[in-house]
Amino acid sequence: MAEKKVGIWMYKNGGGDVIEQKIVNLLKEREIDAITGLDLRFARGFNNGIVCKSTTTQEDVNMLDLDLFFSYNAGEQTLAQIYMYEAVAKYIPTINSFEAFALSEDKFKSNLALSRAGVNTSEFHISHRENPEYMIQKFEEWGKMVFKPLDGWGGNGMALLDSRQTLDTLLPFLNQTDIRHIYLEKFIKNDFTDFRVDIVGGEFIACYGRKASERDWRTNITSGGSIILREPTDEIIAIAQKASKALGMDIAGVDILYDKEKEQYVVLEVNGIPAFATPEQEAMGLDFNDKKIQKIVELIEKKIM
Ligand SMILES: Nc1ncnc2c1ncn2[C@@H]1O[C@H](COP(=O)(O)OP(=O)(O)O)[C@@H](O)[C@H]1O
Ligand SMILES: [Mg+2]
Repeated sequence: MAEKKVGIWMYKNGGGDVIEQKIVNLLKEREIDAITGLDLRFARGFNNGIVCKSTTTQEDVNMLDLDLFFSYNAGEQTLAQIYMYEAVAKYIPTINSFEAFALSEDKFKSNLALSRAGVNTSEFHISHRENPEYMIQKFEEWGKMVFKPLDGWGGNGMALLDSRQTLDTLLPFLNQTDIRHIYLEKFIKNDFTDFRVDIVGGEFIACYGRKASERDWRTNITSGGSIILREPTDEIIAIAQKASKALGMDIAGVDILYDKEKEQYVVLEVNGIPAFATPEQEAMGLDFNDKKIQKIVELIEKKIM
């Protein structure tokens, strides 16, 4: 049997380089060769395939000759990289599948898929920006709502609309941007903490949480939030598994809030590239990295056999 070969593109900061090396070593033990540093941003395509130079070995790799591609670098993702990722995924298995990855990157499409699968989400609404009257209508109905870019991350570009004045300030500004659609969510009354549940191959890996800073309503670390240790309940694990399945994710980080008004958990978003614990977070007690690495390696092996 010919040796199997998988390609990897993974983030290096926050201990990512160490995690990547562990994955490579575990794959090697299973006689699976791994080639790292495949940043598709600079890949070139031609009649016979898609060639990418490994930034690790400098060798040219025809991506379509690989048995699988593992793409795990949210921080350095570009539109060029995503374009080639989609092209590659038509011919070889990828983790996540391009379809699931793209779904998870879009707030409206993922929330719609979750809702249709019976997973509780926020109440959301999307309409063309040339129909601002719907935005006003939703504000009158909800009283407090969140405007979000469809493909945002880290809490960026969002606006909390809690008065007619903030809404009227945002409206003219929207016409100067290149957004096509206005995406809104009803504000969920919550205690400004969340749960992050990691799922790999349908299995529960880890649960921790984030707490917003005193100055912000968002729990994102980039918005000043901090990591907290928290134990999941069976209900929370089941919700995360259902959400991961609904979007067809191999790897998912499911963000969950407790809605104080409806007295239920809601899935806020599903991240397709949930970070491993950094060395600092490991020192705090987040000890899930080895389990997650193990499950990812098992998943890769299963997909290529
Ligand atoms: N509908 C909402 N109601 C209340 N808080 C929200 C709502 N949507 C987002 N948030 C807060 O803002 C943070 C970022 O929102 P999220 O949808 O996860 O966007 P991002 O992809 O930028 O992280 C969440 O972690 C949560 O704390
Ligand atoms: Mg988020």
